[in-house]
Amino acid sequence: MRSHYCGQLNESLVGQEVELCGWAHRRRDHGGVIFVDLRDREGLVQVVFDPAIADTFATAERVRGEYVLRVKGHVRRRPAGTENPHLATGQVEIVGEALEILNRAEPSPFSVADEVEINEETRLRYRYIDLRRPQMQHRLRMRAHVTRTLRRFLDERGFLDIETPYLTKSTPEGARDYLVPSRTHPGEFFALPQSPQLFKQLLMMGGMDRYYQIARCFRDEDLRADRQPEFTQLDIETSFLDENGIMALMEDMLRELFAEVLGVTLPKPFPRMPYAEAMARFGVDKPDLRIPLELVDVSDLMKHVDFKVFSGPANDPHGRVAALRLPAGGSLSRKEIDDYTHFVSIYGAKGLAYIKVNDLAAGREGLQSPILKFLPDEVVASILQRTGAQTNDLVFFGADKTSVVNESLGALRVKIGHDRGLVEPGWRPLWVVDFPMFEWDGKADRWAALHHPFTAPTVNDVERLEADPGAALSRAYDMVLNGTEAGGGSIRIHRPEMQAAVFRILGISEDEAREKFGFLLDALTYGCPPHGGIAFGLDRLVMLMSGAHSIRDVMAFPKTQTAACPLTSAPSPVADAHLREVGIRVRTAHPTG
Ligand code: AMO
Ligand code: AMP
Repeated sequence: MRSHYCGQLNESLVGQEVELCGWAHRRRDHGGVIFVDLRDREGLVQVVFDPAIADTFATAERVRGEYVLRVKGHVRRRPAGTENPHLATGQVEIVGEALEILNRAEPSPFSVADEVEINEETRLRYRYIDLRRPQMQHRLRMRAHVTRTLRRFLDERGFLDIETPYLTKSTPEGARDYLVPSRTHPGEFFALPQSPQLFKQLLMMGGMDRYYQIARCFRDEDLRADRQPEFTQLDIETSFLDENGIMALMEDMLRELFAEVLGVTLPKPFPRMPYAEAMARFGVDKPDLRIPLELVDVSDLMKHVDFKVFSGPANDPHGRVAALRLPAGGSLSRKEIDDYTHFVSIYGAKGLAYIKVNDLAAGREGLQSPILKFLPDEVVASILQRTGAQTNDLVFFGADKTSVVNESLGALRVKIGHDRGLVEPGWRPLWVVDFPMFEWDGKADRWAALHHPFTAPTVNDVERLEADPGAALSRAYDMVLNGTEAGGGSIRIHRPEMQAAVFRILGISEDEAREKFGFLLDALTYGCPPHGGIAFGLDRLVMLMSGAHSIRDVMAFPKTQTAACPLTSAPSPVADAHLREVGIRVRTAHPTG
């Protein structure tokens, strides 16, 4: 039906006859001449219809926005002065000699042509129209370019693309499972995989050596801009490589990806940072290194001050007092400080003390602060020295449980960085390593795995691990890119005794371990190679690379924040007969509240 894509036309084709198909992006009538911007996947081109060709012109008069058209005509150079430098095809236009309306279109619920903010519910409901917008076309094309490049890299290095089941048993990654009832086993359920984790380990036990898969994962969890109930991982596993081997290979892959898709050179090697350092300096395990602000610990200085808000946490082994210096922050107004105080309260902080440095040389007189009266001279001097505060700076303080201080000041650091335009341009990849094996879950009163329960500890000795689980580090690594966790992986446990010990520490009884993971424990006894791997959030990678603000913008058909699909109206009730067939009785049809 066509000879070229609209977006491909250029001066080299002047004089040639072309046939094009696409959508009417815009129609303009200009003094007897009709201009139609014809749009397809590759771009736009201007088609001119002259009344001299009467029947074609009459058809052009019937064209409306988003009509589907087929055009035949000659390419000509645009008359001098009418070129459009903003358009790739802006030097040329098509003389419309034949026009066929392939299909009409109702007026669109929103404009494809104009870059306007559209409510997301509407965009998702009419996703097929939304996808026509140049920005969405660009993002999904970039996504395809990304997967193509990743596949090529892995194929060339001997990785086998192997599929793993979607109807399976629970694979724990810390979220709730989506369940699928079984008709042939009434009362029993499959779980959709939260990741292919156990299967990729079994593939290593099956001698596949190097595996990858672009795999869909399903997690029923609270959604955010960078989380979806179903999302895609680039999932990778290898045998006989240690963490350095895996990280080196993955760095090569990301460097090639960024060079190929964005023309960007990423550093070699990527820096690495222990988890403890990331928490101490940035309050988070995924620091955005583009923001040049850091937390500074001042707990030791506050142990004996006459301000319980500070001395309490300073003397509590689970407490922390930390400072965050904002260069030139002296210009912050009272209202801005109040707003930031409100902001940190979202993270549980009970206040946000500060010291404004009006004049460093003037000593106490040069400072302005609601807490100055509580702090002796030598403490004030140490704070200023340790934070490196200068005249006209502002130093914020957080004092509370360590987790509250880290979360609140960590988030404040990012917020202020963006508010004050301090975010440096470019790409700052970082490996975070040396994670603790376990973290104490106070609510459940037991240890929880920080990565997942199949991650190997750095100690090889079961007794030493069980003697002090809190001190154990894991062989896990996270790939952080500009403050987003783009991927994570680990070396796995490959000995059954160690796997059993980790289940014990996690409070999983032997019976429960058998029932849930018996197949894995068995497999470990039949010749399991040392192995490890990683999974990247493909949606997150493409979001970062395309500059989108949400992974929903790089998925063709995402779910809303409440995990629903406005296009198909899923999820939806099903017929009683169908429920009966799978042995289910619904207790509340439409739970409220
Ligand atoms: P993890 O749970 O860290 O590890 O997931 C790996 C990466 O997947 C992405 N991701 C998500 N993306 C969108 N929506 C979500 N709900 C979501 N959850 C996770 C993140 C994350 O870094 N089996 C292990 C990997 C391994 O050990 O090899 C795993 O799934 O970018
Ligand atoms: P107050 O004595 O409650 O008036 O607090 C004095 C200053 O300390 C105020 O600026 C509060 O915002 C701040 N503040 C109170 N609690 C905390 C806390 N847990 N961490 C940091 N600053 C706090």
